Amino acid sequence: MSAEPVAPTAEPCETRTEFKSAVAPVQPLRPEDDVAPLPQIAGGFQTVMADPPWRFQNRTGKVAPEHRRLDRYSTMTLENICDLDVDSVTANNAHLYLWVPNALLPEGLKVMENWGFRYVSNVIWAKRRKDGGPDGRGVGFYFRNVTEILLFGVKGSMRTLPPARSQVNMIETRKREHSRKPDEQYDFIERCSPGPYLELFARYPRANWTVWGNEASEKVQPRGKVYKGYQGGVIESNVAWLYQQENKSIREISDETGLSIRKVNQSLDDAGVEKRRPGRPKARVS
Ligand SMILES: C[S@@+](CC[C@H](N)C(=O)[O-])C[C@H]1O[C@@H](n2cnc3c(N)ncnc32)[C@H](O)[C@@H]1O
Repeated sequence: MSAEPVAPTAEPCETRTEFKSAVAPVQPLRPEDDVAPLPQIAGGFQTVMADPPWRFQNRTGKVAPEHRRLDRYSTMTLENICDLDVDSVTANNAHLYLWVPNALLPEGLKVMENWGFRYVSNVIWAKRRKDGGPDGRGVGFYFRNVTEILLFGVKGSMRTLPPARSQVNMIETRKREHSRKPDEQYDFIERCSPGPYLELFARYPRANWTVWGNEASEKVQPRGKVYKGYQGGVIESNVAWLYQQENKSIREISDETGLSIRKVNQSLDDAGVEKRRPGRPKARVS
């Protein structure tokens, strides 16, 4: 008889202390925006992805969302993020993917709990250079951050979809403009969790997703400029590696990476890889 695998859960903690944020409340540099009602759908959303406008304590550096001159976007207090009634717009069984800055991991867990989800796992976004090495242009007080965390939580009981069993919990891409998350996250989430999908604090419309956020409308041009060298794009060494070392075809690489055939070709060209003639047998990998 085969038993359903049971997801590991934390032991209940008898001596749980009240949560105290390590981040002292600070005044916003620009007024906080109103919070519009969350979208609703019959039966509730089954999967939510959110990238909240966390308010950092140290906002003097250029990375701060509210940096006076760069003026990227308004932020919210932890309390106001926690107060969003995500629970009532999600199905009884649902998944949550929640972006949290490394410095605010405890706050991320707090938000997750307030929204009615329990933390079960995470996905790490590793920011890579074009040549595949870690993109060390990030900032950080203790370490230079080249990763960001996407917390994964479950409400009720719902396993990930079958393709998730072979999905590694890492997204490796080149980074883009300030706070912009990789588009690869959508394919990742759609492979692992069922719709209907809701993105909170979205900045761009997305097919197959309901988007909510004060910059989510197509009519709004998101603030924050794209800096030179931050346009994202493929990691060429990965594509070249699959082609040359693993002897995969362009179609196989496209299927494996989710990149279009055109992008794979372009990446091989950019990396100066000599292409095999179509129809020729593949070289043997020793
Ligand atoms: C961290 S950014 C989201 C970035 C996005 N995930 C991306 O990859 O481009 C947070 C977003 O929340 C929006 N926001 C700030 N205050 C808000 C509010 N009160 N209601 C809705 N959205 C708000 C900001 O304008 C910004 O677009």
